[in-house]
Amino acid sequence: MHKVDYFKIINKYISPYSAAYNIYVVHVSLVTAKAIKIARHLGLNADQKRFIEEAGMLHDIGIVHVKASEIFCNGEMPYIYHIIEGRKILEAEGLPLHARIAENHIGVGGMTREEIIRDKIPLPHRDMLCETIEEKIISYADLFYSKNPRRIFVEKNIKQVRAKVKGYGKRQEKLFKEWYDLFEE
Ligand SMILES: [Fe+2]
Repeated sequence: MHKVDYFKIINKYISPYSAAYNIYVVHVSLVTAKAIKIARHLGLNADQKRFIEEAGMLHDIGIVHVKASEIFCNGEMPYIYHIIEGRKILEAEGLPLHARIAENHIGVGGMTREEIIRDKIPLPHRDMLCETIEEKIISYADLFYSKNPRRIFVEKNIKQVRAKVKGYGKRQEKLFKEWYDLFEE
């Protein structure tokens, strides 16, 4: 399996001297550590764990193009667009499988076309859903961490995550419960 030098890619898009880099690297490292812990628990193979490490570290790279002053991102696009931009960046880097995760890690296992339309989310009208176990693990792990500088280091407890997921809708609530049973038991 070809190994991706993910720090080379991160450093190409986000300056290591910037405040955004501090947020980015802390957040993706914590998400990746949790995802790898789950992968180990599930007995995934070395290639799968390596892929989770790379894709976990790159999953939010699209934040570089959004406007979100609280995480020091000074791009033009609304925050939600980090998933589309992340996908584009990673596809341009020749990483179509990592790019899928940039897009489908959002919410719980991504979003359906119907949810995007129903909730009037400013995104293209198509399904963006996790399919592989690696994608599902990263989407799950991401739910436990905020990029808010005041809370960035603290893993949310299960009560907090459940409350957040409940707000997303019934599909998300049901899927999260399935994942919790699968990943944590
Ligand atoms: Fe994230």
